[in-house]
Amino acid sequence: MPPTTEKETLNWGKIFTADHFSLRMGSVIVSPAYLLLVSPLSKPCILEVRVMFDHEKLKVFFRGEIVDFDKATISVANTGLLYGLGVFTGIRAHYNKEADALYVFRLQEHFERLRFSCKICNYETFLTQYDYQRFSQIIKDLFSINKIREDSYIRVTNFSDENRVLPKFVDYKDSLSVFLYPLGDYVPTGGMRCKVSSWTRVNDNAIPARAKFTGAYVNTAFAKTEALKGGYDEAIFLDRNGHVVEGSAENIFIVINGTVITPPPSSDILEGITRRSVLEICKNESIEVVEREIDRSELYKAEEIFLSGTGAKVSPVVEVDDRAVGDGTVGVVAKKIQDLYFKAVRGEDPRYLKWLTKI
Ligand SMILES: Cc1ncc(COP(=O)(O)O)c(C=O)c1O
Repeated sequence: MPPTTEKETLNWGKIFTADHFSLRMGSVIVSPAYLLLVSPLSKPCILEVRVMFDHEKLKVFFRGEIVDFDKATISVANTGLLYGLGVFTGIRAHYNKEADALYVFRLQEHFERLRFSCKICNYETFLTQYDYQRFSQIIKDLFSINKIREDSYIRVTNFSDENRVLPKFVDYKDSLSVFLYPLGDYVPTGGMRCKVSSWTRVNDNAIPARAKFTGAYVNTAFAKTEALKGGYDEAIFLDRNGHVVEGSAENIFIVINGTVITPPPSSDILEGITRRSVLEICKNESIEVVEREIDRSELYKAEEIFLSGTGAKVSPVVEVDDRAVGDGTVGVVAKKIQDLYFKAVRGEDPRYLKWLTKI
């Protein structure tokens, strides 16, 4: 969708949250928490503010077909709603203006992780009716039917779809829903302030973090809310033994003596697809990586910290628990990986075109 000044398209009178804006300053795109236009500008720059598309006006995939957003509704007694019985993934697609291409990031890996999550829940409908070919076609169809040619977040949910008051994963049908969402920055990308959460990460024998269960995001919401209320940007989870696990919706990396350190998959982390990409970027850049447990106090010792996730992208942390990380500015390793990631997702680095599905 090209930038517009049409009143109707801009949804005059509608209240937008920060993640509905993208603000371009020069070549940098930022999503501001507040929009403040100052004049005169201290130095000349291109200032372009655009409201992204309104997802509630689009068509979505729901229970096997493409329907209007308003038609995709569930009952008040739906098990997905009553008990949080569902699994999901979130995928980003980036628009490259020069190539006039929309690039979906690591679509096949998202499908495979979703399939694994469905397997844990015995979601037979998804497992038997959706192969990668059908799954990817649904996403392509949504972009073309809705005529969206801009950065988007694709939210895919497969949920227990019965109107019953009994939480279980047997003898219930499951249904798939997919919609496009105009997600800007999920966290600040230029250096965020984090707080170690008083909430503990759910462990593998409670709700396995390795799968993406909708209900598990109560844990995320507790931690995120506490961090936001305390004036921080993001929360960092510890496990029951006090080891660092991940952010509220991101994997975590610390840098000590130039080595990138991140908790292993056995540390109750979600095995992030962005994390996997960061590890590959490090390998290609000959940056040493160690996967091991991380103590809380190492967060205070680290030269650098950064988080990775579909929502969070690759985002440096400049402060933890009111202590500066390193010298309190964005570190060189984090910046390098972030720059490479930004290029990769937009199809600007030939080495990583293999990660992208072109639409
Ligand atoms: C708890 C949690 N950890 C890590 C991640 C990062 O995973 P990915 O890079 O696949 O988005 C996410 C986000 O999806 C998440 O919710």
